[in-house]
Amino acid sequence: MPEKQPKQSVGSMQLFYQRFLLPLKGYFLVAIILQMIFVVWDIAFFSLNGYMVDHVIPQGEKADFLAISILYLAAILVISLLFVSLNFMARGRISQGLMFRIREEGFGHLQKLSFSYFDRNTLGNLLARMTTDAKTYSIVAAWQLPGALYLSLFVLGLIGYMLYLNWKISLIVFTTIPLTLILIVAFQKRILAVSRKVMEMNSKLTTAYNEGITGVKTIRSLAEEMAFIEKFEKLSAEMFSYSRKRVLETALFIPLIIATTGVGLGLLLWFGTEEVLVGEMSLGTLIIMGVYARFFAEFLLFLMRTIGEIQPAIASQDRIFNVLNTPAEIRDSDAVIQRMAMYQGNVHGAGEDGYEDRIESIEFREVDFSYKADEPVLQGFNLKVTHGESIALVGDTGAGKSTIVSLLCRFYEPTFGEICFNNRDYRERSLHWLQSNLGIVLQTPFLFDGTIRDNIRFGNPDASDDQVIKAAEIVNAHPFIMNLEQGYDTPVGEEGKRLSSGQKQLISFARAILVDPQILILDEATSSVDPETEHMIQKGLHQVLKGRFSFIVAHRLSTIREANRILLIKKGRIIEQGSHDELIALNGAYLSLYQKQLLHHQEREILGKDRLRVDV
Ligand SMILES: Nc1ncnc2c1ncn2[C@@H]1O[C@H](COP(=O)(O)OP(=O)(O)O)[C@@H](O)[C@H]1O
Ligand SMILES: [Mg+2]
Repeated sequence: MPEKQPKQSVGSMQLFYQRFLLPLKGYFLVAIILQMIFVVWDIAFFSLNGYMVDHVIPQGEKADFLAISILYLAAILVISLLFVSLNFMARGRISQGLMFRIREEGFGHLQKLSFSYFDRNTLGNLLARMTTDAKTYSIVAAWQLPGALYLSLFVLGLIGYMLYLNWKISLIVFTTIPLTLILIVAFQKRILAVSRKVMEMNSKLTTAYNEGITGVKTIRSLAEEMAFIEKFEKLSAEMFSYSRKRVLETALFIPLIIATTGVGLGLLLWFGTEEVLVGEMSLGTLIIMGVYARFFAEFLLFLMRTIGEIQPAIASQDRIFNVLNTPAEIRDSDAVIQRMAMYQGNVHGAGEDGYEDRIESIEFREVDFSYKADEPVLQGFNLKVTHGESIALVGDTGAGKSTIVSLLCRFYEPTFGEICFNNRDYRERSLHWLQSNLGIVLQTPFLFDGTIRDNIRFGNPDASDDQVIKAAEIVNAHPFIMNLEQGYDTPVGEEGKRLSSGQKQLISFARAILVDPQILILDEATSSVDPETEHMIQKGLHQVLKGRFSFIVAHRLSTIREANRILLIKKGRIIEQGSHDELIALNGAYLSLYQKQLLHHQEREILGKDRLRVDV
């Protein structure tokens, strides 16, 4: 069983920095030092013109010129080859490292949060938000942040160097700074506000789009569909009008900035030329200051723009922090935490909490449960399952099947009664121990951006390639994966749209099996796959169930028959249980269900549909 350390939730902003930024401090340091080198280099580079005019040309010695040129070429080579690539590397590492850490912790934490949290915030939203926020944050931290440092150092360096060259002329040229700043601040705010609107609209559009895609099943009626399209069109139109506004504002802003720069340059030429004529300043210095004055407004603008780009990252940081900081409602008791600290998973044959690792029995004892007060879903529910048994749960929609498995997974806890592993209430055991022993496959497969390999490996990042392939083989996913051009390296994100939902489900099956779970849960896992995939799953199912506890919520008889024991659930109670043959012989509710479905099946077969469901 893989050993993973349970992680504490991120408790304070300081801890947030410690966890994400501090481990990358080496790369940040490299980036900071490099920015300083670049500033000195850039300022020195542009003063070369002046040096030539003042010192090289008057001497008329071509040899000097050659020497300086060669020296500079060598310096450019070193700087660009060594420092620029080092800079890219360091900043690349920062963004990759941050993105990885935030996503890993974020997903890990989302999984830990009890399901009642997901009732209020849809999981998809949270995942999408986590993914984009992690991206925004890491890119800004790696690129905009050091960029802002470079730009501010550059602007300060320019001011200092110009004052050093000729402070009187510099002060005259600097009189245009306030005007430039006012212009930048005023426009930047407006452009930023419009940009933010555009981004907001963009995300609304994406959400609507996703709703449209994932909700295809729920958007059933034509009326709903029309309403949806209308909403989509309205959003698109709004987005267009904001985009246009942004372009207009920018078109007005740029010429104004060029004009103020022109004023600065004019002042410089007017007063500077006088200085040169009276011999107070060299011609070379005038040329250098001309170059710098031209850069001034431009770099000030870059700086303000970069600062503007940092803002969304602050919002992202807040949101990431909020998610990570949401305390898990269901968590280990202090006693369990103490035991884990004491045993640290060092007891032979025991889980990380010091109790035996192998599960011999699972028992629901007089379990009551309700999502909302006064609306009990389970009342005095009893069930005892021994090692190696596979249990099928059948019954109407809303009967409580998913609730039973959710309680078993400890996504929720009983409001009364207890659920025991080896006769011990599972609240005395560590949550992480339980959940790392679970393999869960739900109705809709959840895959994230990344390759098939990454997706299978999700629950067990240390698994070897061989283990990944083995898991895929067990669930019969290997053949179709090998048929893909890139095999296990096929991306499942944007480009993976050609994967059918059945294939995606096979991948999530492989993921569930990879951790070699003691308990396997399939909640309507085969309900929405095509018959072909179902057949593949069916073929592997026997092998998959062997030696584990399994709880299968299913409609199809072929799947149900695989189970040792079938429970017919009605209104949160077991009304009949036994093997398929026993239940048929009982001549009760299961039989009538079966007959009804058989009839249904025959009808469907006549219609050319081969789906056998035990729906009521
Ligand atoms: N998250 C939830 N919040 C409130 N009520 C819920 C929630 N999930 C299920 N229920 C209710 O609990 C009952 C049992 O649901 P469920 O366990 O999902 O049934 P099944 O899986 O058998 O279709 C239903 O009445 C359902 O409306
Ligand atoms: Mg259900």
